[in-house]
Amino acid sequence: MSRTRVEVAPSILAANFANLGDEIRSVEQGGAGLIHVDVMDGRFVPNISLGVPVVASLRKATRLPLDVHLMIIEPERYVEAFAEAGASIVTVHQEATCHLERVLSAIQQHKIGAGVAVNPATPVAALSEVLERVELVLVMSVNPGFGGQSFLPVALRKISQLRELRERYHYRFRIEVDGGITAENAADAVRAGADILVAGTSVFHTPDAAGAVRKLIQVGVEALTQKV
Ligand code: DX5
Ligand code: ZN
Repeated sequence: MSRTRVEVAPSILAANFANLGDEIRSVEQGGAGLIHVDVMDGRFVPNISLGVPVVASLRKATRLPLDVHLMIIEPERYVEAFAEAGASIVTVHQEATCHLERVLSAIQQHKIGAGVAVNPATPVAALSEVLERVELVLVMSVNPGFGGQSFLPVALRKISQLRELRERYHYRFRIEVDGGITAENAADAVRAGADILVAGTSVFHTPDAAGAVRKLIQVGVEALTQKV
């Protein structure tokens, strides 16, 4: 599959929650393709973030797809609530459920995209039995739980492996990379095979969030035309 586009998904974890509507409008102006929403339960990851009501509010505030990243154990318990709140894609961690196939089916029954995420220490091989049926594979490039961490290069190899598997078997999933993405390393991620760049700190902790999104898109699009 030849790749024709790269999208940026700003992670609102790094946004000013007291001004979320304005923050969303800024990244829309910058050309964001999706809004990445990090849900943390204080158990799967050592942090608590936001939940269903925030997704429902965001659904009213933007037309962009809501890319909901569940960092919670037993995500199957919350699929319906996030789907009804307006999630466009729900991504669950391979490490967070004993019943990955079941939870992916449950997500798809709501006619929304099903994604699967892997932590830095989880190999791509752990996903072999579900790759043919997911819409998204999220490769964590930091250990999940916090924004503002440094990119772990181990992610690049996994992104490349996923891209090769997708080409070989004609899978349809898109590849998303999440954690520590900046204008400096975005090109490496795209050259490896990433289709969607999640970025929190490098977008919202700047004076010009729209400009930061534009820059990431520009770097990504340039990288698409370069040889691997
Ligand atoms: C980490 C989250 C990421 C995070 C990205 O647990 O899944 O989406 O918000 O933030 P930055 O870009 O700051 O690493
Ligand atoms: Zn995330």
